[in-house]
Amino acid sequence: MRVSELKLYQFKNHSSKSWSFCDKINAFAGLNGVGKTNILDALYYLSTTKSYFNHSDQQLILFGESESSVYAKVEKEQEFEVLASFGESRKKTFKKNGKAYPRLVDHIGFLQAVFITPYDISLVFEGSEERRKFIDFTISQLNKEYLNDLIEYRKVLDQRNAFLKSLDGRLMDTLLLESFNRTLIPVGKRIYENRKSFINDFLQIFQEIHNTLAQSPVPVSLKYESTLNEIAFENILASTTHRDVMSQRTTQGIHKDDLVFEINGMPLKKFGSQGQIKTFVVALKLAQYQYLRRKSGDLPILLLDDIFEKIDASRSQRLMEMVCSEDYGQIFISDTHGARIKEHFEPFNVNFELFELNDQNSAATSNA
Ligand SMILES: Nc1ncnc2c1ncn2[C@@H]1O[C@H](COP(=O)(O)OP(=O)(O)OP(=O)(O)O)[C@@H](O)[C@H]1O
Ligand SMILES: [Mg+2]
Repeated sequence: MRVSELKLYQFKNHSSKSWSFCDKINAFAGLNGVGKTNILDALYYLSTTKSYFNHSDQQLILFGESESSVYAKVEKEQEFEVLASFGESRKKTFKKNGKAYPRLVDHIGFLQAVFITPYDISLVFEGSEERRKFIDFTISQLNKEYLNDLIEYRKVLDQRNAFLKSLDGRLMDTLLLESFNRTLIPVGKRIYENRKSFINDFLQIFQEIHNTLAQSPVPVSLKYESTLNEIAFENILASTTHRDVMSQRTTQGIHKDDLVFEINGMPLKKFGSQGQIKTFVVALKLAQYQYLRRKSGDLPILLLDDIFEKIDASRSQRLMEMVCSEDYGQIFISDTHGARIKEHFEPFNVNFELFELNDQNSAATSNA
């Protein structure tokens, strides 16, 4: 799969711009703040229907304007056009070949993308939600039923929590709670089984990639933590009724799962050096890429933001070597130095296109 064309209209700092891409390395270079990351985020948006960085679509509209759109030509077995548009007083729509999706989630998985950014470090240092999102994002790209299960679980969990809150600490009648449980249990179990089997397959790919990238025999591992590892979900919910009523929320379930990162058998967060942590995180993302590739049989797009700032010279050399191989498809990369990025890729003799951005050209069309 490849993106052959991208058009941004009033998307973040880009007022109206378009690019034609080559099938391998597409590099955006320019000073801080010219909008390199914003372009990668636009591609991510087209993939996931969400920005990687902004929670609200309103923040994506060029300051002072009221609507925005992102368009791309995507080549898979045939050519597709994807158009996302949204505005202050307009519902967000995603169209494929001119036809709007009834639900945005129906688009998920069509244009698979993996984004490596300096913010990935939050996978290590933030709470378990980040790590669940990582797992869920990866599985959802390939498995629509899983995505529907996540939506269903969230809906019923919210209802159950609202009900627990309304009780104000006193449960008079267990009927309604039991009916929430009956819906939650099978969905939660399916999510658990999918996560477990995902981590099993993913771990192997991750360890392979980590070994190549780090080139040292330091053992790394991922451990899936879930109360469901030990106790059946129905027993968990039955035993936590009193606690749930008291704390006015559902205290146990797959919404509390975690993925523990280990290096040398110890928690990465506490015992990893800065470089080890960065390498671990990059390897996680590359493993995400290879997992999607192996399961879907197609090459996702890879978005690399400020990658040279993240890892040392020899590791970044190995990373370039890896992504230039046949195992990876089209790549979009940002860097402040056009010359540096070109130099990095020259030895690999792959198709390479450099797009130099400057302050003025955020209002112009660059190469189209
Ligand atoms: N909705 C918006 N409208 C206009 N400008 C915006 C909007 N959202 C973000 N920006 C601007 O975009 C710029 C940041 O762009 P971006 O992060 O893509 O830069 P960059 O080229 O990646 O820079 P760096 O080299 O520092 O990473 C900021 O100056 C920010 O103010
Ligand atoms: Mg940037």
